[in-house]
Amino acid sequence: RILILDCGSQFTQLIARRVREARVYSEIHPPTQSLEWIRAWNPTGIVLSGGPSSVTDEGAPTVSRELLDIAPVLGVCYGMQLIAHLEGGAVVGGGRREYGRAEVVVDEPSGLFAGFDQGERTTVWMSHGDHVEQVPPGYVATAHSGSTCAGFRHEQKPIYAIQFHSEVHHTVRGAEIIQNFLFGVCHCTPDWTPGHFIDQEVAKIRALVGDRQVICGLSGGVDSSVAAALVHKAIGDQLTCIFVDTGLLRLHEREQVERTMGQHLGMKLITVRAEDRFLTALAGVGEPERKRKIIGEHFIRVFESASEEAGKNAAFLVQGTLYPDVIESVSAKGGPSATIKTHHNVGGLPKDMKFGLIEPLRELFKDEVRNVGRELGLPEEMVGRHPFPGPGLAIRVLGEVSPYALDILRRADAIYLEEIRAAGLYPEIWQAFAVFLPVRSVGVMGDGRTYEHVIALRAVTSTDGMTADWYAFPHDVLGRISNRIINEVDGVNRVVYDISSKPPATIEWE
Ligand code: XMP
Repeated sequence: RILILDCGSQFTQLIARRVREARVYSEIHPPTQSLEWIRAWNPTGIVLSGGPSSVTDEGAPTVSRELLDIAPVLGVCYGMQLIAHLEGGAVVGGGRREYGRAEVVVDEPSGLFAGFDQGERTTVWMSHGDHVEQVPPGYVATAHSGSTCAGFRHEQKPIYAIQFHSEVHHTVRGAEIIQNFLFGVCHCTPDWTPGHFIDQEVAKIRALVGDRQVICGLSGGVDSSVAAALVHKAIGDQLTCIFVDTGLLRLHEREQVERTMGQHLGMKLITVRAEDRFLTALAGVGEPERKRKIIGEHFIRVFESASEEAGKNAAFLVQGTLYPDVIESVSAKGGPSATIKTHHNVGGLPKDMKFGLIEPLRELFKDEVRNVGRELGLPEEMVGRHPFPGPGLAIRVLGEVSPYALDILRRADAIYLEEIRAAGLYPEIWQAFAVFLPVRSVGVMGDGRTYEHVIALRAVTSTDGMTADWYAFPHDVLGRISNRIINEVDGVNRVVYDISSKPPATIEWE
C-alpha cells in the first residue's frame, strides 16, 4: 500500500487514482503525520505530492529526513524540490518557470524510466515556479528539460523524484512512470480489486453490526445504491432501506429502484409515497432557493417519520460517503492545516436516535464505487448513472412547479436519455437532462398554428461538476432527439440546446 503525503497540489487525488488504477491501494494524508504514525501505517512506498509553496517559505509543508528511509520514496514536483532541499541540493525560485506541456529528455532509461529509450523525448505536464538547480550529494539526474533538472534518484537508496506531474493525463507516459515506481521500485502486489474490497468490507460490517438492525436512505443514485447493496450482502435482512418518492423523480424512477433493490437484490425496502405533500408545499413558489429549502425541509420530516418506525431498533445508519469527501486536505494557502471536510449528512434524524454510522465507501473514488456496484450485481443503468440533484426535477421546471410541467419534462427527458443511450454516448457525458421553460412560442403543426412550450436540452462534460463544458453532440443525434420530443410529447413545439459552459453558467438552470 502506498502512502501519499499531500503537500497541497490540486493533482494529489489524481496520484491516488493512478495508483489504485494499477490495483495498488493508496491513501492521502497530510505531511504533518508523525514518523511513528507513518511507520505504523506500514507503507510499501511513499509519494510526496506537488504543492503551491516554495520549500524555503516559512511554514511550507515539510517532512523529516528520516522519512526517506522508511520505504521507497517518489517526489513529484514540490515533492522533488522538498527532497532536494532536505538532502542538501539547491532549489531556486523564478527564472525558469514552466507551466503546461513540456518535453523532457530521458537521460537514464531505468528506474522510473524503465522501458524508455536513452535520450527519448517525452511529453509531460509541468507546473512549477521553482526548480532544482543542483541535485543533492549522493544523487544523480535522470532527466532534463531545457537546462532544468526534470528528474533525479539516489545512487543507492530507492529515492526517486520528477519535476513534472506524472499523474495528469497530459503526461503521455505518466501512468507507466507511476507503475515503474509501484512495481519496479516498491515491488507492490496488484491485488486491490473490487472483489477483494467487497470481501474485506463484508467481514468488517458483520463484525461491527453483530445481530443489530441497520437503516439506509436510498436516493436511487449510485452512491447510496452501492452502499446499501454492500451492507445488504453483509447482513441481509438486518438492513432496512427507505426510499422517498418526492414526486420530483424521473420517469419510472421509483419503479426502477423497487425492481432493482427490492425484487432483484431482495432488500427490505420501504417506499414512502410523498408526492402530494411535496407538490402541495411547492404550489405557487417560483424562486429557486425557496424551492430548494422547502424540498429539503419536507424531505427531512418525511425521512424522520419513516425512520422512526423502521429505525426503532436500529443501531446504525448507512451513508454513501465517498473518499473525496473525507480526504484530509491541505488547503493551498493555509499550509498543512489538515482540515477534514465532514459530510456527515445525518441532519433529519430524530434527535433522540443514536446511530452509529456505516460508510462502507469512504475509501473509494466514484469510478471504484461503480466497479464495486457492478461486482455486486447492480445493473449498468444504475451504476453508470449520471448525477441527479437532491431537489430533483423541481429545479428543472423553471419557476413554479406543476404536475403538468413535470409530466411534460419527464417524457421529454426520457426520450432524450433514451436517444443518448442508443447512440452510445451516455458514458462520455457527465450529465444530460431536459429543462422545462415556462414560456411558450409559436409553431405550425399540420395546417394549424401552435402556441406551446419550449424544452431546453443540457449535456455537459466534466470531471467533478465544478467546471463543465457543453457537450458537442453529433447533429444527427440532436435532430433525432428534437424530432421525437416535438412529435411525441404533447404541449411542446420547440426544442433548444444549451451551449453554455460552467463558469459562467451552472450545470443546472436553477
Ligand atoms: P451546478 O448547477 O451548481 O451543479 O453547476 C453542480 C452539480 O451539483 C448538482 N446539484 C445539486 N445536487 N442538491 C444536490 O444534491 C442540489 O441542490 C444541487 N444543485 C445542483 C448538479 O446536478 C451538478 O451535478
